[in-house]
Amino acid sequence: DEALVKSGLKVFKKCKACHQVGDKAKNKVGPVLNDIFGREIASIDGFKYSKAFAAKKEEGGFVWDEENISGYLTKPKKFIPKNKMAFVGLKKEKDIKAIIEYLKSISQ
Ligand code: HEM
Repeated sequence: DEALVKSGLKVFKKCKACHQVGDKAKNKVGPVLNDIFGREIASIDGFKYSKAFAAKKEEGGFVWDEENISGYLTKPKKFIPKNKMAFVGLKKEKDIKAIIEYLKSISQ
């Protein structure tokens, strides 16, 4: 849905302080988010993930799907305790829906 992607792009302004997307994207405070939808957790080479993320990956990991992205962005520190993303989370259900549509739009 085009409108939802557009509002997701607005929500993404909150993420841009730490995350880049696009052809020239580089890891910054946070890892590049290209193809994040469907991507395995902690799979960007050259980004130094927290121990919490590395441990999650080692114990089997998971793919960033709707459920996991939604859980993580709602309460980052509850979803993966001790991860290093300094972000309070998104409060509004509609913002989460929108950001997921946006992230899908930048994924394969
Ligand atoms: C990790 C999304 C805001 C810093 C991640 C991951 C996702 C994500 C999906 C997991 C990446 C992976 O497994 O490779 C978002 C979205 C945001 C947002 C959609 C906005 C709504 C922020 C902000 C910061 C930040 C504002 C910095 C203040 C980080 C860091 C990690 C991370 C440092 C790595 C976590 C770790 O290794 O423990 N983010 N993020 N993010 N993000 Fe964000």
